[in-house]
Amino acid sequence: MQNFQIDEIASTVAEKSYSRESWQGGYQSVKEEYDYWIDDIEGEIPADLNGTLFRNGPGLLDINGQNIHHPFDGDGMISRITFTNGRAHFRNRFIRTQAYLEEQKAGKILYRGVFGTQKPGGWLANAFDFNLKNIANTNVIYWGGKLLALWEAAEPHKLDPQTLETLGKEYFDKVLSEGEAFAAHPRFDPSCEQDNGEPCLVNFSIKPGLSTTITIFELNTAGKIIRKTAHSVPGFAFIHDFAITPNYCILFQNPVAFNPIPFALGMRGAGECIKFQGNQPTKVIIIPRTSGTNEDNNKNKVQILETQSGFVFHHCNAFEKDSEIIIDSICYENLPEVEPESDFRETDFDALKPGQLWRFHLNLKDNKVSRELIESRCCEFPCVHPEKVGREYRYLYTGAAHGDSGNAPLQAFEKVDLQTGEKQIWSAAPDGFASEPNFVPRNRHGDEDDGWLLGLVYDSNHHRSDVVILDAKDLNKEPIARLHLKHHIPYGLHGNFVNDVFVNS
Ligand code: CO
Repeated sequence: MQNFQIDEIASTVAEKSYSRESWQGGYQSVKEEYDYWIDDIEGEIPADLNGTLFRNGPGLLDINGQNIHHPFDGDGMISRITFTNGRAHFRNRFIRTQAYLEEQKAGKILYRGVFGTQKPGGWLANAFDFNLKNIANTNVIYWGGKLLALWEAAEPHKLDPQTLETLGKEYFDKVLSEGEAFAAHPRFDPSCEQDNGEPCLVNFSIKPGLSTTITIFELNTAGKIIRKTAHSVPGFAFIHDFAITPNYCILFQNPVAFNPIPFALGMRGAGECIKFQGNQPTKVIIIPRTSGTNEDNNKNKVQILETQSGFVFHHCNAFEKDSEIIIDSICYENLPEVEPESDFRETDFDALKPGQLWRFHLNLKDNKVSRELIESRCCEFPCVHPEKVGREYRYLYTGAAHGDSGNAPLQAFEKVDLQTGEKQIWSAAPDGFASEPNFVPRNRHGDEDDGWLLGLVYDSNHHRSDVVILDAKDLNKEPIARLHLKHHIPYGLHGNFVNDVFVNS
């Protein structure tokens, strides 16, 4: 009997697609700034893949040996991979935020982070210090001729796309005020009805409190804010992402409560004071993008619908169909609390619930929400064809776990055909760890899956990162090319591909 149990444990261990030690390697700081043509390549870079992939994420997981408490508190670093005529160039630069410059000069942590990083000296050194770091580490976009590093709680930082030099903060001709929030998850509407079919960028900001103000920004192709509307909704809100359709913005108000006292007293980071309320519903906030005058018309009013309790960081896409808005989102059963004494490097993946892909039907006639599970495999960081944002679509791509059940680090890229239900997967397990993929169409108006899926994969075996180019038509195939970088890039957050070729070498 005892032998049998040992065998059973041994086989469970053997089934794991990763080791925690391997995964941990991707959370080491990268301190150098590089600049080189990538020459260690398996396969061939497609000659018709031209443009620039910008990625953002925490580059530093420590300040001169003092560990930060959570990766979300890590200083933002831009990685840029430029594809031109079958070659690829790499450059990375830290964003020279005020806090980055000060801390690097001092050689120690000077600021509290939202996710629990504290200044040395215990709670007394941190009490009543509300001066948080704008770490510019969450996303990077190129819009209206500006390269912007985004962090959701404050204004963007502007960078030179050629050199990645930090140019300062961006206020969009003073439409943003000093310190005003601008979320890290803009959506690119490929064809805005209000602007005669021109593309536009839609973003939001959250000002939480007893009631929360949600501001919606719309920017034209020149990078100018042309519409800005503010809406108040009841209750505290922690909202990281949203989705758009031609007529609506959709935000999920996750059921959380905020107790600021431990934060004020210097005992916890602000993010550690958010408590999930499993007995409360998730509220779905639907804000019209068109500003009408007829208050009786539902199309012009903010509507709040309710669905089961759950926690959503990221949405994949949304679209309007008949009297419904359909929205596809990665949903967790709950939000695990970040404990002050915990170390994220010791994460027990098995103890957490996986993110899973759900389709929500928001019925605007009877205000009911129904949902169905599309993918139970643990997944995060979904994306779609850029022309399909806000439109009915067929294919989505996402980072995914290697195994089809349970919670685990992302090690794979997955494609889901929403029409047939077919799923394709390419996995980098056991040594590789995946992140957000970016879909790049070969031709913007060709077949929806005719293009490439680009992803950064941390190769723990060589302690370096690869840029992987997959054929989006068939993810089951081996990559078209695997570009080996000379170093690793810590696990990143978000980024975007643009057709412009930025390289200076
Ligand atoms: Co995000």
